[in-house]
Amino acid sequence: MKIPPYLLNEHYDDRYFDVVNAIEEAKHIFFNGTGIIDILTAKGPGTKEFRIGETGFGAGRLLIALIDLLDRSGITDIAITYNSVELHPITSERMASIIGGFRKEVGPLIDLLVRAYSSVEISKPGWHRMQLDRPFGILTLNLWIGEALEMVNALTIPCDAWFLDGHGPKKNPDIWRPELLMAIGEKTRTYGTCATFTVAGAVRRGLVAAGFSVEQMPGFGGKKAVLKGMKLK
Ligand SMILES: C[S@@+](CC[C@H](N)C(=O)[O-])C[C@H]1O[C@@H](n2cnc3c(N)ncnc32)[C@H](O)[C@@H]1O
Repeated sequence: MKIPPYLLNEHYDDRYFDVVNAIEEAKHIFFNGTGIIDILTAKGPGTKEFRIGETGFGAGRLLIALIDLLDRSGITDIAITYNSVELHPITSERMASIIGGFRKEVGPLIDLLVRAYSSVEISKPGWHRMQLDRPFGILTLNLWIGEALEMVNALTIPCDAWFLDGHGPKKNPDIWRPELLMAIGEKTRTYGTCATFTVAGAVRRGLVAAGFSVEQMPGFGGKKAVLKGMKLK
């Protein structure tokens, strides 16, 4: 099916995401897959720190879906550090147009993110930091402009969960290369989790080599199956 021009990442000839149910899809694949709500709930009272890594940031759809989920969760005192990376950053205007289709579901969150992102100098490589105050607590977005392996290497504290969302392995094998997946494994704490939309053999093998135990789970929308993983040591 032809990709509508506003959804096309021309660097990879691929869409940023499937536009139908993309917010619900994010919740099923990435948030159920990594178990974030269960993990936060199990932490009990007091500040609940949680570190996330994402490849790649794109139009921020996963971030918006996550904030929406946490806002509705009823859990409080959460401190999320959201580390993401983007090799081909888009303008805030483009971001608004790509995620504008979800305005009915998450309009105020789109405005929040687009406003914060519009302060990012996208021509400047390295970390860009934004802090968002929410009903659930605080979310700190650390966005690395540059290549994914640089961002992973720049992390000083391992993540609790990874959202692997960097286009399909046929369109973008680089973001699934074994060297990068190994580095992601090293920057995941023991019993940390990961999730992705692809069940491709090369991705499964790369994640296993990186120390994750992987498991298929039922897909969502057009996808029959998706993948989740847990770092065992
Ligand atoms: C499928 S899109 C991400 C969608 C995003 N998670 C969202 O929900 O809006 C994949 C993104 O990864 C970026 N990307 C691809 N290869 C990369 C790499 N090697 N390093 C950093 N970013 C990369 C692409 O430019 C694209 O924006």
